[in-house]
Amino acid sequence: MSLFKEMLRSGESLFRDTVVLDYDFQPKILKYRENEQLRFAAAIRPLLEGHNGRNVFVYGPPGIGKTTACRHVLKELEEETDEIVPLYVNCWKENTTFKVFIKLCEDLGYKFIQNKKTSELFQLIQQKLNKKAVVFIFDEIDKLEDLDFLYTLLEDIYRKSIFLITNYRDSYSELDERIRSRLAPEFLCFRSYSEAEISGILSERRNYAFSQQSWDEEAFKEIVEKCAEAKDIRAGLYLMKEAGNIAEEKNSRKVLQEHVAAAIKKADEFRIKPMAGLDEELQLILNLIKDNSNSKIGDLFAKYTGLGGQMSYKSFQRRIVKLDEGKFISTEKVSNKEGNTTIVSYSSEKKLTEF
Ligand SMILES: Nc1ncnc2c1ncn2[C@@H]1O[C@H](COP(=O)(O)OP(=O)(O)OP(=O)(O)O)[C@@H](O)[C@H]1O
Ligand SMILES: [Mg+2]
Repeated sequence: MSLFKEMLRSGESLFRDTVVLDYDFQPKILKYRENEQLRFAAAIRPLLEGHNGRNVFVYGPPGIGKTTACRHVLKELEEETDEIVPLYVNCWKENTTFKVFIKLCEDLGYKFIQNKKTSELFQLIQQKLNKKAVVFIFDEIDKLEDLDFLYTLLEDIYRKSIFLITNYRDSYSELDERIRSRLAPEFLCFRSYSEAEISGILSERRNYAFSQQSWDEEAFKEIVEKCAEAKDIRAGLYLMKEAGNIAEEKNSRKVLQEHVAAAIKKADEFRIKPMAGLDEELQLILNLIKDNSNSKIGDLFAKYTGLGGQMSYKSFQRRIVKLDEGKFISTEKVSNKEGNTTIVSYSSEKKLTEF
């Protein structure tokens, strides 16, 4: 039986190391984000000099290196000094004060903490952190159910920098005034990558993930184009991995255009950041847009009030901006005889998360 013979011909896999294509893989060098990393470093610098650090509010669309750039800076910091404790929390997973404190305690090396109260957990955190300086990264902050922990940290941890990351610029104005005035952050907007930058990033990942000369250049270009359309690096990583798998299944020695085409077809089943991450009102508006794609914003608002929606037009507009920033929809400003308006469309390119 030679069923596996083909597959087992040693050393002939197209892949060299698929881990490199994982979304949370940390590349050694992070190109095109040098300025952003310098901004993080500058905010942390006062901590190295014995002062209080500065805080940064980071925002920008999905899949463009916000998390990766922040973590990169933490890693370098960790390699340089023991005096500053780096702590990273993904608030999508840890979405309450209690869960955030549990995570911080775990990262600080505490055990047997599940039965402790929130205030007891914080005492433990304070004990360790107030002997040193600390950099907190709170990622995906728009997913938090309560922000009490932030207030507590701002008040009772002495030497710190806090970085908040989100897709939504608006998340800042949604913060409690007491938090905002204490946080007083610098704002750092991550812009999308250009097609040339996307090509640079993906070809570097490709060179690590695949064996040499395993890609037809035209096939690779198509992946870059598709990724540039989606504006999310994860789309490119997903497509490279899928196309590679399909090529292997077909026992091809190279990844060809036909394999990329098949991968793109499959990509329609991309797993997306679930709509459940949006609050009820946003979901309602998103559904409305889904059913009335390519409508004028005024018409959508009329439909929304028709359904019993209570929001003012201004708030409605802000929600539209938010959905646009999260890439759930796209908007286009147009002007005609009647004046200016915005056309709102449902987006089929959505946020990618895991394979
Ligand atoms: N400059 C870069 N060089 C190499 N890889 C990059 C670069 N920028 C982004 N990536 C890769 O793209 C993927 C997505 O990046 P990341 O997770 O940092 O996005 P994000 O901006 O935090 O997105 P989201 O808002 O959805 O959380 C990761 O796999 C990351 O390694
Ligand atoms: Mg992220």
